[in-house]
Amino acid sequence: MKRSSSSGQSSVPPPILSAGVSRRDFLRGLGTTAVSAAALGSQSLAAGLAQANAEEVRGPAAGPVTLSINGERRTFNLEPRVTLLEALRLNAGLTGSKEACDRATCGACTVLLDGDPVYACTVLAIEAQGAEIETVEGLTKSGGLTRLQQAFVDKDGLQCGFCTPGFVMTLTALLRKNAHPTEAEIRRACAGNLCRCGSQPRIIAAALEAGGTPTAAKANTVRFHDHALA
Ligand code: FES
Ligand code: FES
Repeated sequence: MKRSSSSGQSSVPPPILSAGVSRRDFLRGLGTTAVSAAALGSQSLAAGLAQANAEEVRGPAAGPVTLSINGERRTFNLEPRVTLLEALRLNAGLTGSKEACDRATCGACTVLLDGDPVYACTVLAIEAQGAEIETVEGLTKSGGLTRLQQAFVDKDGLQCGFCTPGFVMTLTALLRKNAHPTEAEIRRACAGNLCRCGSQPRIIAAALEAGGTPTAAKANTVRFHDHALA
């Protein structure tokens, strides 16, 4: 709070003026600066308004949305509210990415957007235009398995398999950037993916194996007959 002196004048000290600058010069300069700042502010406001007016308004009706999926450009007639996951599964017919929570908590819907893992359930299809989208279907053109996918098989890295495409995409992104990740790096990369079947330890083992770090062999199956006859 500002206090007044007994003379009724403000006790706030006057601004320090450098030698040769009169109080009048200072105030005049301040006024010029304020006017310049206001002018600049209104210019940027006008530029912002012009940009907003130039932007195309889309929706709520459906319109053409072009997506680059697994190296192929495809155009769909979509409402702006359609998520990338819905577009992939319902329009593109690519059902590898799974819908589980539909609210960014499980990672079953993970796809790569310009090489980075994203939850496809929380990205609008319209937002994904111009980006390279990779789904689990696009990892191999020949229909075979990548080294990572083979490691999932070898290490029993799945039970129901519902989470598997999401883990595969997350770990594919990791292995492209870091060919030999440590267990800690793999765990950190998979922090946004959940496996409700409890296969996480085997998924980690599969990723280590794909990164060239040998892990313990898969547990031997004890066959009932061998056991009964022993
Ligand atoms: S379905 Fe997208 S995070 Fe679960
Ligand atoms: S294998 Fe079933 S949720 Fe992961």
